[in-house]
Amino acid sequence: MLLTVKYAPKSIDEMIGNDEGRERINKWMLNWLAGNKRKPLLVYGPPGVGKTSVTYALKNQYDIELVEMNASELRNRNRVEHIVKSATLAGTLSGKDKLILIDDVDIFAGRKDSGGPGAVASILKETACPVILTATDAWDKKISAIRSECELVEMKKINKIAIGKLLESIAKKENMDIGAGRIAEIAENAAGDVRSALNDLQANGTGLRDREKDIFVKMKTLFKAVTYGEARSVAYGDVDFNILKLWIDENIPNEYESAADIATAYRWLSKSDVFEGRIRKSSWVLLKYAIDLATAGVALSKSRPYAKFTKYAFPEYLREMSRSMQTRALMKSVGLKIGGKTHTNRRHALEMLPLIAMQMQKNGEGIERYYEFDESEMEFIAGSRPKRSVKS
Ligand SMILES: Nc1ncnc2c1ncn2[C@@H]1O[C@H](COP(=O)(O)OP(=O)(O)OP(=O)(O)O)[C@@H](O)[C@H]1O
Ligand SMILES: [Mg+2]
Repeated sequence: MLLTVKYAPKSIDEMIGNDEGRERINKWMLNWLAGNKRKPLLVYGPPGVGKTSVTYALKNQYDIELVEMNASELRNRNRVEHIVKSATLAGTLSGKDKLILIDDVDIFAGRKDSGGPGAVASILKETACPVILTATDAWDKKISAIRSECELVEMKKINKIAIGKLLESIAKKENMDIGAGRIAEIAENAAGDVRSALNDLQANGTGLRDREKDIFVKMKTLFKAVTYGEARSVAYGDVDFNILKLWIDENIPNEYESAADIATAYRWLSKSDVFEGRIRKSSWVLLKYAIDLATAGVALSKSRPYAKFTKYAFPEYLREMSRSMQTRALMKSVGLKIGGKTHTNRRHALEMLPLIAMQMQKNGEGIERYYEFDESEMEFIAGSRPKRSVKS
């Protein structure tokens, strides 16, 4: 399980850093709970400092119902109104207090096709329930209309000592074999981002082999997923998104049987690519959305779950890559060995390969011994034998 999920703060007090901001958020919530209407909160600051977590901590601490609004829904005014109104209404039905979270509002607000910020701003003016919005940069022009309806709370980077202490306590609970020096290093590298520190701590113990095994598990989780969250979870942790996408790409037709499902899944995947292409020019924060498209988009493309055992395949592209990398490595070592014996440079030596391969047919052992080739080098040379000379 991911450390960021397992150790997500359950209450405001459990969080580290930004004491003043946390205290203000807590008071704001208590005011709402006591029946005093307050302006929506715009919690802003760099990634991984707890902007989203603080809302979840409130939910937990006060047993409130949290209604999360996807930033992409902001595009549609009716949808925004519907969500805010139904949240208010449902609140009276269930008896539970509601808290609305509009996460990462800066990301979608400025898009041409949005029309969102105006709608959100006017809703914020009228809303009868507490709303928390989060953003990286509160001063971004795109959200100025929204900002003026909100009370601002800044959350800053977390200092490395606090991060180090958190890592230490988690490492202890997890019985991790990790020294204080390494913990300090991870805390330092995190540059104030708790999420990345926790991910690094988790990755610290995982060897490469585990990672490869993991990816099959991830494929199964993704393709069998029936919820957004399940599908999304495969992108967390120690995985390279681009590699993950290659795996998804390769395995869509292995899992899905209906042509329509396959087509839909590929459409989401290519949307993710387009999106990712845009991000590189603007903001990396958007990567989250490219990941959503590639994981949840693909997973939820199925019209029905496929209750079968699927043999997930290694991506052909990666196989080719590693094959040609191996070939290049072999060419180099073989060239060096031949060159060493024949006093020629490596390139010239390689020109002698077909010849050596032919000699090898007659006296394989002799060649092996003379040039000191190992098994994979012998195989490689045998493969370079000119086809015409092969007699069998
Ligand atoms: N202040 C904190 N105290 C304890 N844990 C934290 C804190 N901030 C972040 N974390 C850990 O990092 C994870 C990610 O944090 P969170 O999603 O709240 O970051 P964020 O500020 O919303 O980042 P982003 O801008 O990328 O959305 C949490 O699940 C939690 O495990
Ligand atoms: Mg967040």
